[in-house]
Amino acid sequence: MIEPIKFEDGKLILLDQRKLPFEEVYLEINTIDKVYEAIADMAVRGAPAIGVTAAYGMVISALECKSDCCEDILARMKKDGDFLKKARPTAVNLSWAIDRMNQRAAILKAKDPILFKWDILAEAIKIHEEDASANRMIGENALVVLGGKRKILTHCNAGILATTSYGTATAVFYVGKERGIEFKVFADETRPRLQGARLTAYELFQNGIDVTVISDTAAAHLMSTGEIEAVITGCDRVAANGDTANKIGTLSVAIAAAYHNIPMYIACPLSTVDYSISSGKDIVIEERDSSEVEIICDKRVLPEGIKVRNPAFDVTPAELITAIITEKGVVYPPYENNLRILE
Ligand code: MRU
Repeated sequence: MIEPIKFEDGKLILLDQRKLPFEEVYLEINTIDKVYEAIADMAVRGAPAIGVTAAYGMVISALECKSDCCEDILARMKKDGDFLKKARPTAVNLSWAIDRMNQRAAILKAKDPILFKWDILAEAIKIHEEDASANRMIGENALVVLGGKRKILTHCNAGILATTSYGTATAVFYVGKERGIEFKVFADETRPRLQGARLTAYELFQNGIDVTVISDTAAAHLMSTGEIEAVITGCDRVAANGDTANKIGTLSVAIAAAYHNIPMYIACPLSTVDYSISSGKDIVIEERDSSEVEIICDKRVLPEGIKVRNPAFDVTPAELITAIITEKGVVYPPYENNLRILE
């Protein structure tokens, strides 16, 4: 399996996803500014992958601090963590990982500074490993939920590249493959950044899974012809009531699925649930640069001066979601009650 995130010799090694599928280039990152840039410019993307990157980013912050005093290192980590949190606003995993690293650092601060830094690294590795095992469990749980359904639509990339291994939405395809179960996967191309075409199709194809790319606009049609039996996507933040933010276009998919009576599943680790917000109205939706819409393959596709909006995410209301598949179990409505049980 591809390893999108590694940490070696004090450096964060990231597969540069902007260059996929044509070039596999790894970035070597050892400053907090470069960690910020990699997240903001989407060299690394996908909620869990952003969280793991931020955790290693906090290790880089600690390593960049030359003081021997743990209080100084802690202060530096807090400052750098606040800076990193601004890189992308929607995926909660970013602030979740930074807060967890800072909480651990606060507990460890009585230690010798060298041991302190080792233990900070150990916490980041733990976050990384927990993500991988959560994904595997999500895949196992999704396999049960899907029953005999094999023709599945996914949107954006909630795969290995968006996590650390298996992915969230894609975990079921990989776990299924290990058991000899073959899925037929439809990947929405996912304009404007084409994560479905460039990343999901790339990684599924590389791993021998039957994948067909469709334009985003074709999804409802394939639902109407019976070619799609279920939808499974990842997500960037789930509110306490089950409202879910994911890549722009997910809401359209969910509405089309509800119309066609097709189940709509969200797959995510519990680190993506934000119990501090009661509904999706409180989720900040990132607006990205208009050039992502204006330019396709280095070519401008609309005249200068035309107004453009480029929201990167949307919120699917809980009522359109059949179930949320987590590592600890499958959550059905009413989400207000049932998500709390797993907190
Ligand atoms: O803008 P991106 O590529 O970071 O958006 C990614 C998504 O929306 C994913 O579906 C989500 O982060 C879940 S990844 C397991």
